Amino acid sequence: MNLVLIGFMGSGKTAVGRRLAQRLGYGFLDTDHYIECQIGCSISEIFSIQGEEYFRRLESGLADRLNRLHNMVVSTGGGLPVTTGNMEKLRAAGAVVFLKASHEDILRRLSRDNRRPILRGEDLEETVARLLSERLPVYEQADLVVETQDKGINRVCGEIIHWIGNFDPASRDVPSS
Ligand code: S3P
Repeated sequence: MNLVLIGFMGSGKTAVGRRLAQRLGYGFLDTDHYIECQIGCSISEIFSIQGEEYFRRLESGLADRLNRLHNMVVSTGGGLPVTTGNMEKLRAAGAVVFLKASHEDILRRLSRDNRRPILRGEDLEETVARLLSERLPVYEQADLVVETQDKGINRVCGEIIHWIGNFDPASRDVPSS
């Protein structure tokens, strides 16, 4: 069984993913980091040299292969589940968990960090509001939604670990879309 973390930029997927993997004794894969190693440059460089579409193709190609993994925690880039077909691929790879950070937490974290090319040169509040409204309906298709506000990493991990013990993929009632 794999665990796949999805959610908006700045929602703590990488930090939670690492800790979860540690606590479960699983491996850990961060899709952004994997792509950076595969291509040999940073996400920002990929966006500025080859463009966003190229990056999205790399993400989708990686999503195709995630179902070959076993006992891994995978933390995904915030836009990966949104590309058509990728949510199905993630569901085929494992239990999908949406880390739902509050709008305020997201804005606070992203305003201190200028590494995301998709936000560079844009009005932060406007772009976050627009992307969140486009993406939330996709993120909400996860098997589990964990609200992260006012919770430390260990508490978030504890909730996921408690839930995963009872998770049965066969009982999924929502058809993938
Ligand atoms: C993106 C999120 C980033 C990274 C890229 C694009 C997005 O990952 O994949 O900058 O479109 O939301 P994080 O969610 O880890 O910041």
